[in-house]
Amino acid sequence: MSRTLSIREALKTASKELGNAKEAALLLASHLERDRLWLMTHDQVPLEDPEGYFALVSRRKAHEPIEYITRKVSFYGEEFFIRPGALIPRPETELLIDRAREIIASEKLERVAEIGTGSGIIAVMLAGFFPDLQITATDINPEALAIARENARRFGVEAQITFIETSYLEGINQKFDMILSNPPYIARDFPLEKPLGYEPQNALFGGERGDEILREIIDIAVARGVRYLACEMGYDQRAPLDDYMHEKGIDQVRFYQDYSGFDRGFIATLKE
Ligand SMILES: C[S@@+](CC[C@H](N)C(=O)[O-])C[C@H]1O[C@@H](n2cnc3c(N)ncnc32)[C@H](O)[C@@H]1O
Repeated sequence: MSRTLSIREALKTASKELGNAKEAALLLASHLERDRLWLMTHDQVPLEDPEGYFALVSRRKAHEPIEYITRKVSFYGEEFFIRPGALIPRPETELLIDRAREIIASEKLERVAEIGTGSGIIAVMLAGFFPDLQITATDINPEALAIARENARRFGVEAQITFIETSYLEGINQKFDMILSNPPYIARDFPLEKPLGYEPQNALFGGERGDEILREIIDIAVARGVRYLACEMGYDQRAPLDDYMHEKGIDQVRFYQDYSGFDRGFIATLKE
């Protein structure tokens, strides 16, 4: 790009390329480390490093999620750090936090475990809500754990969360009051939309049927004698998981629905 472009001109070109003026502005704000208001009030300023900006635009045109490009994601009204290597948090996971939060508060729980912490959003939010809560958060993916640790640091809750690279809770002998998880729960042959191809596949697929990891977590909760199990799940997994929990002797299960009214998770009480 030889000609000097103003911010206004660069935004106009990028908006056309992306078919989306808001995203063009978000990418430019991220590139310049400014906010969108600054762009509006400085739109005649020449853009330095237009190649750098249009490289971001090209990534977005190739359907890379904007959160990975800007390295930010909004979740539960907060801004978290994200980059490729961990699943981008989804708004419905706020509901799992709300359900867990009610029980942690009413039962005064002290120690919880999160399996599959990813970017750490669940553990970090709960640590923020409950300054006396101790959380052990695991993941098999070291890149995700690095992102989770960075989020814990940014929110100042690193002393409350122990991050451990392991499968499920292997090698951890502590007792927990509650196990929480938003595990991978998509069936292996489910056709993914293009942007999902950018996310770690072991954060998405839960096995042949999809609910294999959830069943494993139910077994672990029973074997460890925890009082509560709180999990997110797929919209079509309620009946098989309800049956499975009954087989395991868990009769107190409350399923909850997401913002679109689909079954999306459950809280099981294993022991009063
Ligand atoms: C759907 S993502 C959820 C991430 C984050 N908790 C959230 O809600 O956005 C599932 C996470 O589980 C992790 N995972 C998959 N299998 C696991 C296992 N056997 N043990 C621990 N973590 C696992 C993946 O690496 C991924 O980070």
